[in-house]
Amino acid sequence: MCGIVGYVGKRRAAPLLYAGLKKLEYRGYDSAGIATLSSDMVWVKKVTGHVAGLRGAASLEGTCGIGHTRWATHGAPTEANAHPHVYGRFAIVHNGIIENFRSLRRMCEARGEEFSSETDSEVVAHLLERLYRGDLLDALRRTCSVLKGSYALAVICRDAPGAIALAREKSPLVIGRGKLGHFLASDIPALAPACGEICPLSDGEFALLTGEGVRLFTGEREIAPRWVPLARGEKETGKEGHAHYMEKEIAEIPAVLQRSRGGLGEGEAFSRVREAVIRADRIHIVACGTAYHAGLAAKYAIERLTRIPAEVTVASEYRYLDPILTDKTVLLAVSQSGETADTIAAARHAKERGARVVAIVNEIRSTLAALADERLPIGAGTEIAVAATKSYVAQLAVLYSLAASVAEAQGRRGYGDALAELPDLARETVRAGKAVAGWAAHFAAARSAYFIGRGADSVTALEGSLKLKEISYLPSEGYPAGELKHGTLALIEENTPVVAVLTSEELAEKTMNAVHEARARGAKVFLVTSLPAYADERGLTGSAVIPRCADVYSPALAVIPLQQLAYFVSLARGCDPDRPRNLAKSVTVE
Ligand code: M6R
Repeated sequence: MCGIVGYVGKRRAAPLLYAGLKKLEYRGYDSAGIATLSSDMVWVKKVTGHVAGLRGAASLEGTCGIGHTRWATHGAPTEANAHPHVYGRFAIVHNGIIENFRSLRRMCEARGEEFSSETDSEVVAHLLERLYRGDLLDALRRTCSVLKGSYALAVICRDAPGAIALAREKSPLVIGRGKLGHFLASDIPALAPACGEICPLSDGEFALLTGEGVRLFTGEREIAPRWVPLARGEKETGKEGHAHYMEKEIAEIPAVLQRSRGGLGEGEAFSRVREAVIRADRIHIVACGTAYHAGLAAKYAIERLTRIPAEVTVASEYRYLDPILTDKTVLLAVSQSGETADTIAAARHAKERGARVVAIVNEIRSTLAALADERLPIGAGTEIAVAATKSYVAQLAVLYSLAASVAEAQGRRGYGDALAELPDLARETVRAGKAVAGWAAHFAAARSAYFIGRGADSVTALEGSLKLKEISYLPSEGYPAGELKHGTLALIEENTPVVAVLTSEELAEKTMNAVHEARARGAKVFLVTSLPAYADERGLTGSAVIPRCADVYSPALAVIPLQQLAYFVSLARGCDPDRPRNLAKSVTVE
């Protein structure tokens, strides 16, 4: 989604803004722009398409400026709609949605003001100009008092050279300080490596940045900035020899599991969550996209291992179900970014009704983490590729650890040991999964693809399908294998690729029935299995044998070859696996 950067200090701002925007590219965007202040003028350059189009703007003068990558919501991705928006003496960049922009815009237009974009954001620049009484921060406070919705705002003003004013409400914004001066960004990775310390803003806070210092306010009350060091892992964002971030992040899965093995099950937060789960009348899990699939996989583990009922709901639908919540309900909100607006809204809904909210997040300084009663970090490290890979497996590791730990407390032993084997098995799986590279050509030429499995394998099928469509744009469906003949089989024709996932001895024959049904209709069937006996079955176009683990944990391994398949098909179809069209790394609007 949209990204914000800003800088004020002694250096020329434009090259630093450009470098910051390059770091935000992974978020997904369709236009970009920067504005600097110099000689009492606001200089602006905006482009559609890639940030690289702003390279020439690095020559803009000024030691103070703001920049933006826009993911279109209100109005097409055009230069006019790109940020920064300038009106009068102000230039602004905005993340979030101004929900009451229509009425505010009508009010401004009634006064004869002309708008140059279709965005909800431009109205902020108009209001600033109208409410300005000679003080930049005061104008921003007055403006925010009439805004409804969510915003991270960075504002520069011709009359206040060398200053940037900030406001945050339900959309992340972080200040950074380093040797060159003061920085700001919507995402921490954009602040590395220039900043040694950061100060994330909370909702309702305002800040004023100058080359000399940072002033932070809750409403009108000045407070001390909360500086924390920028951790090493948050700075490592290179590809380290890999062709793409996605390839690198899949390769990191064993190390992520290895790292988390030491930490999981320990720590006070984990113990408190375990106790809450033991006492819980039910578990609710809310999440979106891949994180939702982690929730589905976790349901199998939680219910099988602990016999505590677990319901999994797509976060955007949670509130409309009017969920039954008690003070004994534990809500697990699963999110890599911790900034997914739907997941945050669902968590807030549950919290307001008395449930205990646990955030299972990668970004521990996120909005969701701040809102939750408890936080369990998944420790995947920065994930840059839009397609979630290592974070999915890390989410599973945390959820499985929780289930295993509750089971052990209930007297069901052995599940923790099985979990400890996952890092080594994942290493073998990443190696074995490379075999799927040879399958890509069959998918590249296809019109659609299908993924099937039973039990926990049906969740892997869903996730494999999402990964494929997301980065290769090939229409794809994931199904419980038994459902194929209830409708989807009608879509299978000669050479349609079907991937079957098979990791449970108990369910093997039934899954193989579906394989044969698809084969009989001309499908090319590819098998991902931990049961070598089935890998040589006649009629398979390809098979990949992965190591065996406890059935209940198999999604953590079986997904790896499917992530690799999506990657190879994406390349075969000439797509950019790291930056799929129309998608954003964190979806900060509902
Ligand atoms: O940051 P979150 O985990 O809350 O994101 C949820 C989804 O937007 C995310 O998993 C999305 O589906 C990914 N692009 C999938 O690869």
